[in-house]
Amino acid sequence: MEVKTSLLDNMIGVGDMVLLEPLSEDSFLENLKKRFDHNEIYTYIGSVVISLNPYRSLPIYTPDKVEEYRNRNFYELSPHIYALADEAYRSLRDQDKDQCILITGESGAGKTEASKLVMSYVAAVCGKGQEVNKVKEQLLQSNPVLEAFGNAKTVRNDNSSRFGKYMDIEFDFKGDPLGGVISNYLLEKSRVVKQPRGERNFHIFYQLLSGASDDMLKKLKLERDFSKYNYLSLDSATVSGLDDAANFRTVRNAMQIVGFMEDEMQSVLELVAAVLKLGNLDFKPESRCNGMDESRVKDKNDLKEMCELLGIEQSVLERAFSYRTVEAKMEKVSTTLNVAQAYYARDALAKNLYSRLFSWLVTRINESIRAQAKTRHKVMGVLDIYGFEIFEETDNSFEQFIINYCNEKLQQIFIELTLREEQEEYVREGIEWTNIEYFNNAVICDLIENNQNGILAMLDEECLRPGTVTDETFLDKLNTICAEHQHFESRLNKNSKFLNDHSLPHNCFRIQHYAGKVLYRVEGFVDKNNDLLYRDLSQAMYKANHSLIKQLFPEGNPAKVNLKRPPTAGFQFRASVGTLMGNLQTKNPNYIRCIKPNDKKAAHIFTDSLVRHQVRYLGLMENVRVRRAGYAFRQAYEPCLERYKMLCKNTWPHWKGPARQGVEVLMTDLQVPAEEFAYGRSKIFIRNPRTLFFLEEKRKQCLEDLATLIQKIYRGWKCRSHFLLLKKSEIVVAAWYRRYAQQKKYQKIKHSTTVVQSYTRGWQARKLLRELKYQKKCEEAVTTIAAFWHGTQVRREYRKFFRANAGRKIYNFTIQRIMQKYFLGLKSNLPSMSPIDKSWPARPYSFLEGVHAELRRIFHLWRCKKYRSQFTEEKKAVYEEKLEASELFKDKKALYPSSVSQTFKGDYLEMVKNPKYQKLSSAVDEKILLADVVNKINRANGKSSPRLFLLTKKSVILADQKTGQVKTSLPLPDLSSVSTSTQSDGFFALKLKEGSSSAVKGDFLLSSDHLIEIVTKLHRISSLAADREKLNVDISDEFLVQFKQDKVCVKFIQGSPKNGNGVSCKRKNNRLLEVSVPTSP
Ligand SMILES: Nc1ncnc2c1ncn2[C@@H]1O[C@H](COP(=O)(O)OP(=O)(O)OP(=O)(O)O)[C@@H](O)[C@H]1O
Ligand SMILES: [Mg+2]
Repeated sequence: MEVKTSLLDNMIGVGDMVLLEPLSEDSFLENLKKRFDHNEIYTYIGSVVISLNPYRSLPIYTPDKVEEYRNRNFYELSPHIYALADEAYRSLRDQDKDQCILITGESGAGKTEASKLVMSYVAAVCGKGQEVNKVKEQLLQSNPVLEAFGNAKTVRNDNSSRFGKYMDIEFDFKGDPLGGVISNYLLEKSRVVKQPRGERNFHIFYQLLSGASDDMLKKLKLERDFSKYNYLSLDSATVSGLDDAANFRTVRNAMQIVGFMEDEMQSVLELVAAVLKLGNLDFKPESRCNGMDESRVKDKNDLKEMCELLGIEQSVLERAFSYRTVEAKMEKVSTTLNVAQAYYARDALAKNLYSRLFSWLVTRINESIRAQAKTRHKVMGVLDIYGFEIFEETDNSFEQFIINYCNEKLQQIFIELTLREEQEEYVREGIEWTNIEYFNNAVICDLIENNQNGILAMLDEECLRPGTVTDETFLDKLNTICAEHQHFESRLNKNSKFLNDHSLPHNCFRIQHYAGKVLYRVEGFVDKNNDLLYRDLSQAMYKANHSLIKQLFPEGNPAKVNLKRPPTAGFQFRASVGTLMGNLQTKNPNYIRCIKPNDKKAAHIFTDSLVRHQVRYLGLMENVRVRRAGYAFRQAYEPCLERYKMLCKNTWPHWKGPARQGVEVLMTDLQVPAEEFAYGRSKIFIRNPRTLFFLEEKRKQCLEDLATLIQKIYRGWKCRSHFLLLKKSEIVVAAWYRRYAQQKKYQKIKHSTTVVQSYTRGWQARKLLRELKYQKKCEEAVTTIAAFWHGTQVRREYRKFFRANAGRKIYNFTIQRIMQKYFLGLKSNLPSMSPIDKSWPARPYSFLEGVHAELRRIFHLWRCKKYRSQFTEEKKAVYEEKLEASELFKDKKALYPSSVSQTFKGDYLEMVKNPKYQKLSSAVDEKILLADVVNKINRANGKSSPRLFLLTKKSVILADQKTGQVKTSLPLPDLSSVSTSTQSDGFFALKLKEGSSSAVKGDFLLSSDHLIEIVTKLHRISSLAADREKLNVDISDEFLVQFKQDKVCVKFIQGSPKNGNGVSCKRKNNRLLEVSVPTSP
């Protein structure tokens, strides 16, 4: 069970000042001191947290503490800043109320630390996840960056914030952080050029020089030695407990996490270096002809290095330190600067450069941490603004005035909101409210910010006024206008009631702030309010070849010259404070009032007077009084009933009805006087702390009684339970044992029975087995004998059939199978039907050799028969002629091969159709088998003359080619033979039978292109005629022909080249006719 402690438990002093009794300033301080001495640095005034700076680290910010305070009610645990952070976060997340955390207190009171504690608590308890963690980390890491550039060591605080910071952390509906927006307020830029004694410049300068590597310093043209730089005060350059080098690394790392690019970081450091360099510029006077002094840069080395760093042309900057151009409408007037003005310009540039860099850093961080989602955000604002500041004597200047004004406004909002909230709560709860007197500092705010006659308005008026304006004229103005104001004091006015107050110098005025009187020296007010930077300088900066510098001085852009005066510093600040106040008023406020226990920054020291002063000006007593004016303590009914229900029998231990009724029953039962409390709608209000302590005392007693009762009952319960447990165990053990013993016995009996049974069954079974075996053996014997006997019988019967025929059958069967396979194979592999196809499948078995060859022959014959059967009678006759020609001439005459492809046409002259030969054809009775033109060789000289050659079944007719007149008709029976040569010529001799009627004419020597056809046809006709002998065909290169009386030898010779390609025939002499045939190619 969760143990709940309360604000009222183990209290050191009083945790909530509202309960302080009696209430006085002394008892208030005493309570604070008591708690401070016991390391209880937080104390409440209602919902306001007072925080005392412990100046040492306490073990109260551990993760365990975070867990302890997480999701707990505000008054549930002892006072802690985490309780406030948790309350704010939960009402933001669960009730959708925007929150702001206002942290106030003077410099060094622990505001910045408190703001970081709040942020880290919220970061620890809100959602987790990669994206959320990144946002958290960026929000947290923006602190070191801004602290490095905006914090400095002052006499009051080693890490004093020299700017005001308000950070809005944005959450989504789940309470996960989405991002944030930081607003910064007026950086104390005068610190850049001058620091009060015992203080130093902004941390970053020292961090850069101590922490940067040699390489980086060289790049930035810097030296590590602080003493080399005029802007760095040396008396407190190092601060004990502050490691600048380590912090530099932290800052760089933080910049990286926030999202600065490497080149951005480099640019920022270049600007920091440039400011240091700027401080080292010295000027000397140079007389001009008009008698005026003009300033010149003394040692130009620093200027050169600075210009190189920022990419500025040296001459431009140098000129800006010597001249000043004033532009008015269309005119431009250039005046020279004297040395003092040059120094002024230098410092103004340095201050502007640094403060603009700072504002740029804030903008850049905002860019990184800006929430991405566009949905409505819930916002928690954390305000950490510079604390109220009072310097010694007359050291308070414009900055302190501004800072204190801001604190004045915060006090105002505190008063307003606390009272309003208190009042609203009473109204909300329906409780009667009586007004309480308190000091309202609105009158001081009015003195400063009133638009007509407020100090800031007058300062602006003075700055804008034409004519000579000095700080003194400003003071004069104040004296005339504010002299009557009860919070304004000054001596200048002759009628002043402060004329004799020597603590009030003449050049000062004093304001009675809510936190005390502060003496301000007017020197510098006008200047600082004007915040003037010569236009030549801003233009020189704009011309720089350095993107960051260019961005920082947009007004230097010559294209956008603005002749209007920029708003004054005071005006700007007033406006931004106005916006801030407006913003804070829309949010639910949560206050942390920081108190500084001593001036020595030391632990364990509680300087009474110092704390008393702060308690007074922070109005804490009034705060308590207001809180107690009505009712000192209030609590919701549920927790109240939960806490005190043991004080009444009716509510203890459980109250079933509504909590309010329970509380009413409780209060009646306890007889608390009716005027001591009131019932609100959701809370009970207790007027006097005494009543609460009475309740607490009663509760404590009751708790002791209850504890005894609980102890008693618990012990009794424990013993009884132990006994019951023993009893129960005994029964269980006994039962288990009995069961075990019975089990054992039973198993023994069962075992014995089984043994006996098994013996009996075994004996019976063996007996049966023996009998069965014998029976089986008998049956097997009979079967075996019968089988043998039958076998013998069958074998005897079948033996004779089996051996004699089996071999042949198998053989025949095998042969049959082989043949069948062979024939089927052959069938599928038969060659083509072409008679000239010589292919034939291979034989599969050698014993088929004869069959295979025979089948091939039969197949071929059959194929030829098939081929022949396609022929017609005419075609057959043609082939028979061709066959005969082949038998006659093949391999005998060289002309033969060329005739094979020629068709034997017969009638080459188309005798019937051609009218030219009509007469001739009619003269021939027979059918003309061949008609052609042949050459008849002249017997005398071997020359040839054409003749028509006609062949009929009975005769050969030679006719004149032209006239068609029959010259010779040779009956075929008169022909004895035909002679031809072996060569490729077309010569042939028709030899006549001696003694025939035609023989008188002598043999004929003819030549024809169709020699083979003519001779074949002649031979065929003679062989077909049954009544005649066959015509002889002689083939020889030398043969005799009978020319009338002479026998002439016709000789065929191979043609010589002289004879050309044609066949030539010549009568050599009486006996020889020579035919020369060209050699066939
Ligand atoms: N809760 C704390 N625990 C430990 N040390 C603390 C705590 N609060 C403050 N300090 C110490 O006090 C110093 C000053 O605190 P801090 O810088 O927060 O003051 P401040 O109120 O912001 O002052 P300023 O107005 O000058 O900025 C811190 O540097 C730190 O050493
Ligand atoms: Mg601070």
